[in-house]
Amino acid sequence: MKGTEIIGNNFYFGGCDTVKLAKKYGTPLYVISEDYICERCKEVREDFLNKYENTRAVYAGKAFLTLEMCRIIEREGLGIDVVSGGEIYTVIKAGFPMEKVIFHGNNKTIDEIELAVKNNVGRIVVDNLYELDLLNSVAQAHGKKMKILFRITPGVDSHTHKYISTGQVDSKFGIPLKGNIINEAIKRAIDVSNVELMGFHFHVGSQLFDNSSHIKAVKTLVKLMNDMKEEVGFITKELNTGGGFGIYYVKGDTPKPLNYFTDAIMHTIQDECSKYGLSIPQVIIEPGRWIVGEAGITLYTIGSIKKIPGVRVYVGVDGGFPDNPRSALYDAKYEVVVANKMDKEKNNLVTIAGKCCESGDILRYDLKVPSLDTGDILVFKSTGAYHYSMASNYNKIPRPAVIMVKKGTDRLIVKRETYEDLLRNEL
Ligand code: LLP
Repeated sequence: MKGTEIIGNNFYFGGCDTVKLAKKYGTPLYVISEDYICERCKEVREDFLNKYENTRAVYAGKAFLTLEMCRIIEREGLGIDVVSGGEIYTVIKAGFPMEKVIFHGNNKTIDEIELAVKNNVGRIVVDNLYELDLLNSVAQAHGKKMKILFRITPGVDSHTHKYISTGQVDSKFGIPLKGNIINEAIKRAIDVSNVELMGFHFHVGSQLFDNSSHIKAVKTLVKLMNDMKEEVGFITKELNTGGGFGIYYVKGDTPKPLNYFTDAIMHTIQDECSKYGLSIPQVIIEPGRWIVGEAGITLYTIGSIKKIPGVRVYVGVDGGFPDNPRSALYDAKYEVVVANKMDKEKNNLVTIAGKCCESGDILRYDLKVPSLDTGDILVFKSTGAYHYSMASNYNKIPRPAVIMVKKGTDRLIVKRETYEDLLRNEL
């Protein structure tokens, strides 16, 4: 993993001693490397934005969104994709340029649409006809014309966990290609006066190591562009190809460089457009996990160690399901190291148990570790994406703090929740 080193017995991340960080901020603790995020954004600029004309990149905020993250993404020159009123509110409060924001969602509420319209969100990705009418009437009431894309279900199965596969025919997202729905939707968008249809969006799925789903979806979409030009006279100006680029969690994962996906997307668009005689639209990508996933780790402190002779050793940590629901939800696996025992041999097999009142709250089965003691610090790697953003207060456990590390310095960006925070809204 980039940005990590071992000095003495200890595990360093982003130039910081994680054992010291655990002491300074307490655990569980999310540690995010700004250097790593910036490196990834640089790769986006060099291998996609600067390499191909008329392209845009937006960071998928659902992976990890805080005020400080918005500021970093703004400095790095990317836009942000948001999926709720809360995420819109976050980008507004961060002072993020709203024209660079794209608003997604399969059932946006009227309040969320109003917030987006009032704050001039750059693009709204309309998921269905109901939403088109709702958005048009809200925009009319505010005297605005909103730029939109239609989200299309490309009918592509991606090889990933079914909960994070989104492009297949039977999906809650997007307008299906079957029947005449899309023709009707485009005609309606052209007819009504307070939206301007710019093009289409698709997202095939997440944590992908293979570009074939993107290639298939692009082919389907360029054909749709051609059909819609011929059938309803609509010229596509923008094509948003979503995110989904996979990262490294454990041995066996085979992440690819960004250009493995983006070159394939661009070349397919160029070839298909020239086949149909279409001009190439602006192309947008929306990576989330790929930007921030490997930029984060979680630190825990070991408490109880329970040995069931001949069966299993359960090692209890001070976090679990509330800060990492991915293990239970997707059976997600992580690389784990003992931050203060990096020099020791791994001769023991243990199971890392979360602290929730729930047997399913296991963070890792059958992990090889050195001999463990209460007070040791465990590091779960690749927890930058979909951990803090998916955290809950189950069992009334306060959410951990988030710190940012950068070239050996550390700073708090989200305070640890307190018990008072947990009761703040209770009457
Ligand atoms: N664009 C759209 C429209 C999306 O729905 C998503 C992810 C992305 C972009 C970014 O995808 P990424 O580049 O991060 O793969 N909670 C799950 C992941 C859900 C992803 C949902 N949509 C997990 O923890 O694995």
